[in-house]
Amino acid sequence: MSIHLDVKKVTTHVLQEMKLKGEKISMLTAYDYSLAKILDAAGIDVLLVGDSASNVMAGHETTLPITLDQMIYHASSVVRGVSRALVVVDLPFGSYQGDSKEALKTTIRIMKESGAHAIKLEGGKEVKDSIERILSAGVPVMGHLGLTPQSIYKFGTYAVRAKEVDEAKKLIEDAQLLEDIGCFSIVLEKIPADLATKVASVLKIPIIGIGAGNGVDGQVLVLHDMLGITQEFHPRFLRRYLNLFDEIKGAVSKYIEDVKSKDFPNDNEQY
Ligand code: KIV
Repeated sequence: MSIHLDVKKVTTHVLQEMKLKGEKISMLTAYDYSLAKILDAAGIDVLLVGDSASNVMAGHETTLPITLDQMIYHASSVVRGVSRALVVVDLPFGSYQGDSKEALKTTIRIMKESGAHAIKLEGGKEVKDSIERILSAGVPVMGHLGLTPQSIYKFGTYAVRAKEVDEAKKLIEDAQLLEDIGCFSIVLEKIPADLATKVASVLKIPIIGIGAGNGVDGQVLVLHDMLGITQEFHPRFLRRYLNLFDEIKGAVSKYIEDVKSKDFPNDNEQY
């Protein structure tokens, strides 16, 4: 039987076993109780409380403005909706870069106040000290390389990363370093598929891709993008499974019509 159907609670060890058995890992973002409950019931392996909440929940242009308190609010809501999936929470921008003690303090608040199971942070060598300190406290860490949205003002665009030899070489070195110091998994965002496949085949830990092709160990998408709630975002890697923007708009238009025409509520819908 596949691990996907067999396992009652997904742990970092389960993900490692899935990689060994060649079973792909499914991961989506989640930010609230009700949707987390649906994703968990569907059998998703990992839920990421991504700092993309800054974009899709709060309407900011980038992931930079979201605060630690806001991330904890989203994470604790998600945790309450989940019984099977592993819940991973993004450390927000400014809460871990440059000061490993601050990184550990941030992580401890997330773990204590939300009940999540692991954290994710962006970067390689530059954040090595922070990762090591977090790991020394017994908290599993997921890395994130390639297009790292918290560095958008350094990159200047959301274009594909690591197409040039030097950046690809640094990415491979960073991925190896993250594995060597003890990260349990790495997200690779928007990089050439060949490079991502190479990283996934060389490393022993599970590699989860977003815009990184099919040669990695699992896939992640932003929930609001794959459900078609967001509209002006059309990267090549995004597959939309629903057009919820139009579905919800249609339902709300009908409700407005029914209220205005006095069709709602009818005799059976009142006391
Ligand atoms: O915040 C987020 O949604 C992410 C995913 C894109 C991997 O980091």
